[in-house]
Amino acid sequence: MRLQFRSKAQVSDKDTADAFATSWNTLPPGSVYTKRQFEDWFSPLTQEDVAGRSVLELGCGNGSLMAHIVDWRPHKLVGVDLGDSVASARRNMAATGFADYKIIQADLTAFESDGFDLVYCIGVLHHLQNPHAGFESVIRNTKPDGRFHCWVYAREGNAAVIGLVEPLRRIASKFPWWFTKYVLAAPLAGLFYLYAKTVRLLRNVPGIKIAPLYQYSIWIAEREYTFFHHVAFDQLVTPATVYISQATIRSWLRTHPRVDPTKTYVSMRNGNSWKFGGTVC
Ligand SMILES: C[S@@+](CC[C@H](N)C(=O)[O-])C[C@H]1O[C@@H](n2cnc3c(N)ncnc32)[C@H](O)[C@@H]1O
Repeated sequence: MRLQFRSKAQVSDKDTADAFATSWNTLPPGSVYTKRQFEDWFSPLTQEDVAGRSVLELGCGNGSLMAHIVDWRPHKLVGVDLGDSVASARRNMAATGFADYKIIQADLTAFESDGFDLVYCIGVLHHLQNPHAGFESVIRNTKPDGRFHCWVYAREGNAAVIGLVEPLRRIASKFPWWFTKYVLAAPLAGLFYLYAKTVRLLRNVPGIKIAPLYQYSIWIAEREYTFFHHVAFDQLVTPATVYISQATIRSWLRTHPRVDPTKTYVSMRNGNSWKFGGTVC
C-alpha cells in the first residue's frame, strides 16, 4: 500500500477530481439522492425556473442531480466535470431517456460557453484550489437575466467537522481509495448513522437542539446506511476542502459587476452549509 504525500500547494483540482471519481464510479447506477433531497438542494428554485431553459451544472459528479432535474423539463442540459466520473454521469443520463444533454470532461474554472439560462454548482466550490475562480465561472457562463445557484460547506456551524473530520481527511485522502472507503469510512459512517438516528428519535426532547450537527443529523437520518457511507467516503477521500463563511459569499456577490445586487439570496441549510444565488445582468 503506497501513501501519496503531497504538500497543500502540490494538490491540484485534477487530484481532487480523480479522488471523487473513485467515489462516483464505485456507486450503483442511478442518482444517489432522493427527489426530496434534490428539491431541497435547489430551493428556492423550482420547476418554473428550469422548464424550457438551458441549464449547466458545473462539477456534475456522476450526474446525480442532473438525473433529477430532467423531470423539470429543461430545454437542454450540460454537465461539466474534470474527473472520470463523466463515465458514470453519461451512463446515468442515458438511463433517464432525456435526449438533449451533454457531459463534458473539463476544468470548470476555465470553462467557456455562450451562456445558459441557469447555472448551478452544488458541493463543488469548497473543493477547488481557488473557490472564487469557480464562482467567476458560474457567473461567466450565465446569460444576462439568467439565474445561478450554488451550495457550499459553511465555516459557520461546522466546528465538530472541522475539529474531528478534517484532521482525519488530511491523512485518509492519502490512502488508496478502497482503504479509505471500506476500512475508514464504513465504520465511521456506522457511528454517525447511530448518532443521527438517535438525534432524530429524540428530536422532541427539550435541549436536544444543542447537540452537534443537530439539523444536519435530522436531515441525513431520513436516509439509509449506504448514503451515510457515501457521504463519509466523499468527505474523507478528497484532498482539498475549505469551509466558506457567509461574509466571503456576500463579498463575492457584492463585488461582482455582473451580479444584480437586488436579486441575490444567501440562506443557511441544515445549520452547516450555505445556499446562495441570484440573477446576472
Ligand atoms: C462533491 S462532488 C459534487 C458533485 C455533484 N455536484 C453533486 O452534488 O452530486 C464535487 C465534484 O466536483 C468535481 N470537480 C472538482 N474540481 C473540479 C474542476 N476544477 N473542474 C470540474 N470539476 C471539478 C469533482 O470531480 C466532483 O465530481
